[in-house]
Amino acid sequence: MIGDVVGEPGLTVLERRLPGLIGEHSADFTVVNGENAAAGFGLNQECLKRILGAGADVITTGNHVWEKREFWPLLDKEERVLRPCNYPEGSAGHGWIRLQKSSLDYMVVNLQGREYMTAIDCPFRTFDRVMTGREEQPEFLASQDIRAAECGAFTLVDFHAESTREKEALGYYLDGRASMVAGTHTHVQTSDERVLPRGTGYITDLGMTGITDGVIGMDKAICLGRARNQVLYRMECAAGGISAVEGVLVELDQNSGRALNLRRIRSFAG
Ligand SMILES: [Fe+2]
Repeated sequence: MIGDVVGEPGLTVLERRLPGLIGEHSADFTVVNGENAAAGFGLNQECLKRILGAGADVITTGNHVWEKREFWPLLDKEERVLRPCNYPEGSAGHGWIRLQKSSLDYMVVNLQGREYMTAIDCPFRTFDRVMTGREEQPEFLASQDIRAAECGAFTLVDFHAESTREKEALGYYLDGRASMVAGTHTHVQTSDERVLPRGTGYITDLGMTGITDGVIGMDKAICLGRARNQVLYRMECAAGGISAVEGVLVELDQNSGRALNLRRIRSFAG
């Protein structure tokens, strides 16, 4: 799973590095968060094509998915692009997908946090509703078999959230129910990747894909001005300098769907 792709530098480094990473690690399935691909804000058709072309099987997003109004119809049309599942009913697009690749079933669920963010529907209950059709925590949490416990697929969750507390809480809520819960949105890779007690792989934030010599991939001078002057200068992506693809590689047990181990990825390009 790969962290938020930020602007043209993010797309460029993704195209340069992701195909090699997939080959080098024999990755079977790749999820890329693309919510900042279009000049830092949202997605467009060209970005979509480039991210899928680089090797993504599914593209997840977050709060910036709504930035480009012309992209909204594509959220309905392109099934491999998700927006957070817990936006209220009636929002464009869809928040989860189940698909097969190399005879294996994968389910990707995109959720968004509510702490320090827009107060959309509950991500915890939304996950329950997607999996069981009911808004209550199922009773089979002690299962040793994640695939059998939920939907029979490897379930990969992108939780786009600001609050570390909320991210860890969802990780434990889904422990034993999802194969992997990866946080996105804060763009700084955390070093807390681990397998939770019931077999779910977890990391608070995957990091981002773009220029590392900036402020969360954006121009540092503009960000500094915003912070010092409290003026909302127009944000622009950082340009030039070292860039990286950041994310995590998770090895899953083919039978149970449990995470066996996780490895953080930071692949740099000059
Ligand atoms: Fe982001």
